[in-house]
Amino acid sequence: MRELVRGRTDIVELVSAYVTLRKQGRRYVGLCPFHSEKTPSFTVDRDRGLFYCFGCGAGGDVFEFVMRMHGLSFPEAIRELARRAGVQLEEAPDHRRGEWERWLRAADGAAGFFERALAHPEAGRAAREYLDRRGVDPATARRFRLGYAPDSWDALLRHLTGQGYEPQLLERLGLVHPRADGGWYDTFRHRLVFPIFDPQGRPVAFGGRALRDADQPKYLNSRDNPLFSKGRTLYGLHLAREALSRSGRAVVVEGYMDLVACHQYGVAEAVATLGTALTSEQAALLRRHCQAVVLVYDSDEAGRRAVERALPVLEEAGLEATAAVLPEGLDPDAFLRAYGAEEFRRRVDAGLPLFRFALESSLRRHPLTPEGKVRVVDEVLPLIASVRHDVARSEHLAQLSQRLGIPEDAVRARLRAVRRQKVRPSQEPDPLRLAVDRSAQRAAEQHLLQRMLDEEEARVRLAQRLREEDFSDPLHREVFVALCRTGDVHAVREAVSEAAREVVHRLWFGPRPARADEEGWVTRIRAEQRRRRREELVAEIARAEQAGDVERVRAAQEELRALAE
Ligand code: UTP
Ligand code: MN
Repeated sequence: MRELVRGRTDIVELVSAYVTLRKQGRRYVGLCPFHSEKTPSFTVDRDRGLFYCFGCGAGGDVFEFVMRMHGLSFPEAIRELARRAGVQLEEAPDHRRGEWERWLRAADGAAGFFERALAHPEAGRAAREYLDRRGVDPATARRFRLGYAPDSWDALLRHLTGQGYEPQLLERLGLVHPRADGGWYDTFRHRLVFPIFDPQGRPVAFGGRALRDADQPKYLNSRDNPLFSKGRTLYGLHLAREALSRSGRAVVVEGYMDLVACHQYGVAEAVATLGTALTSEQAALLRRHCQAVVLVYDSDEAGRRAVERALPVLEEAGLEATAAVLPEGLDPDAFLRAYGAEEFRRRVDAGLPLFRFALESSLRRHPLTPEGKVRVVDEVLPLIASVRHDVARSEHLAQLSQRLGIPEDAVRARLRAVRRQKVRPSQEPDPLRLAVDRSAQRAAEQHLLQRMLDEEEARVRLAQRLREEDFSDPLHREVFVALCRTGDVHAVREAVSEAAREVVHRLWFGPRPARADEEGWVTRIRAEQRRRRREELVAEIARAEQAGDVERVRAAQEELRALAE
């Protein structure tokens, strides 16, 4: 089944919905949708239906692509792709097919239910009054499909189960919660509801704002579900897309209300991150539509920190990033209502590059005394250290030393100290893994495995000549063992562990040496294997001598002599 669906799915077509691919030789390349990058390291092999990113290591077949892209499980991915390819899944009963579409219909049904509740003369009155108080006009409310979740434990549950949706499905969408007695209850009760849309404008998740101060939390958000991943979504993107591309610039705000206000006031290129730190996936998403980003966050401590956290992410994505300054205590929503769109745009246009923004706000908090300067340096340096680009880092350093009147050398020395202490955030790809391994030994192992992947004759020959122990890298060993059984890249991928699978991808998509030197490679890895064995034996002899095990000492010495010949 897996093979059938895979065979019927064109990976280039599938990926092209998310990434602009360019043909390069036998492969296609583009900007990786799974991490932010400026130069394409995302590679697609149309013939074999595989993808691999040299930047972040993401790789796999069509199923793994959809799983990653939409956060699906494997059965969900295979169902979705089977449906697209028009393949009947025997094991799937009728009602399970097209599940993705059912989720979408259920989410849309919920959005419609909330909309009707908002329009309801009595039930929706409190919510309508709230919107009115906050200055959201009815046309804007309709554009965003704002709704009202009634003050009831099961109004939505009853409505959607009445339409044939299982409570389990609604639970996965975050619309209902299980009760201890086995039943379910509505997640959103007496709240203003903001549907969250996918880029096509279909509701995929929900945020609900409390209408009373006493109700906590202020905003309830549905958790990630098969249709929705918070870190990959920008609220309002479906409405902002055109304006974004036209102006080449995105205005990024934090809140639901901020976003709604922006659009009501004609700032059509606005999108919102919904309370999370800007992720590299979101940056990559923006990068596909525009070159510049203006952050308009709350002008408080949290907003300032959010700007600082976004700096390395946006710089790495290759986006020109600035941050606008609003008067203390105002968020974009409040500012727009107090000062209007024109003044808002002026502030947006006058945004400072992110580093300048951070530097200036630090300078505002400390006096320009020697002690104050040291504090500024120490506040700003971790930020500089978080920037991976050498050129950008140098520029920031120069700016800092200039602004404070401190010699650059002194600042640089301090930075080195900061960087030594810094641990790498775990989400960052391990640079070691990214670096092409240059050791001749490993290279020889890789070349031999590539030969086995590329050519059936070489595979059979090398499977006989080589042994598992010849490979120094345990992952190479694993791949070799799999290759001894089959030459099909997909079968190999499926036979090995996840870590080894990445090795398979890297080998498959990696460059081939100009000349195949099978003999030289075999000799090299054999020599290396002997060296390792010698080391082991020497250690074993030492251990056996200590233990007084004469037999083992002799046996090891014998093997050692044989190895030397
Ligand atoms: P804010 O607390 O700044 O709220 O949170 P806001 O957007 O100005 O909301 P209003 O104007 O009082 O209605 C910013 C964003 O952080 C997320 C929401 O996305 C919110 O819009 N947030 C905040 C939550 O998810 N949960 C919360 O409890 C609070
Ligand atoms: Mn607000």
